[in-house]
Amino acid sequence: MICSVAPAKIILFGEHFVVKNYPAIATAVNLYSKTCIYEYDQPIVESKQLGVKTILGVEDVDQKFKQFNVAYEMIKTISGAVEGFYAVIDSEIPVSAGMGSSASTIVSFIHSLLTYYGLKPDLDLVNKIAYEAEKIVHKKPSGIDNTIVTYGGTIYYRSGSMERLNIDWPNDLYIVAIDTGVKRDTGMVVRSVLDLYDKYPNILGKVYEAAGLLVDTAREYLLNKRFMELGDLININHGLLVSLGLSTIEVEEAINMLKKIGAIGAKMSGAGRGGIVYGLFMGDPHKVRSMVGFAGKIYLLKPINEGVKSIYQ
Ligand code: MEV
Repeated sequence: MICSVAPAKIILFGEHFVVKNYPAIATAVNLYSKTCIYEYDQPIVESKQLGVKTILGVEDVDQKFKQFNVAYEMIKTISGAVEGFYAVIDSEIPVSAGMGSSASTIVSFIHSLLTYYGLKPDLDLVNKIAYEAEKIVHKKPSGIDNTIVTYGGTIYYRSGSMERLNIDWPNDLYIVAIDTGVKRDTGMVVRSVLDLYDKYPNILGKVYEAAGLLVDTAREYLLNKRFMELGDLININHGLLVSLGLSTIEVEEAINMLKKIGAIGAKMSGAGRGGIVYGLFMGDPHKVRSMVGFAGKIYLLKPINEGVKSIYQ
């Protein structure tokens, strides 16, 4: 049996704007998806989280697995391998919530399948295949999701290239995410934002420019340990996303709750229109701790350095 794990991600700053080649900052966090591969005579993939499985490499692949099929076909071509396998994907990352569940599961699948076929799971190759697979799900992805879960750490991402930020995260800094429970399709939300941009390019061009300046300022603050000052930037970034029509009542309620319990700043994260919001906390988040696990919707997270890797069980 071969197993790989990949982390979840939080986009700290700049989602959506990154689709139009403005910068964004994302970090890997300590929630994981895992793929384990067993020998089998046909190529099968099963999602424990969704409670479904399908056979890959056939005409009518279950739509829920179409990105796995793209990855499988690419790996088959690269490796020349013909053997079947049984891949079991297990994940603690909420689905369609903005924490990179789709990127993390496809990256752990690709990493484990390359390993199973005896290839070195080079991270650049994993990332490249994952990007092609993500295009099937999200139509016009910026590539930030697959990149952050592949390499881990905290990255400044722009136009397909990344800079790894060496941030000295304080021990008492936490990212608290609340899942509003409102699921949405990232591809559709991205499309609607791009349509709004096309309708008002002169107005939204300024909003995008402001977002770019904000992300560059956040990069400076992060590198210079000015963590308390990030609160303003987090709140302003949320406001910019609101101006793109991305907030909902559930999002605003979750943000108010995070602020009430002491967040330095709070914003939606990922595609918006539901999904998760995150707040940044410094100090012992005892109020947060008492709420973690509440209805399974609140997560106490830490930035982590490692991306996808093999695990031995
Ligand atoms: C989704 O996690 C982030 C978006 O910026 C889309 C993308 O970058 O591909 C909304």
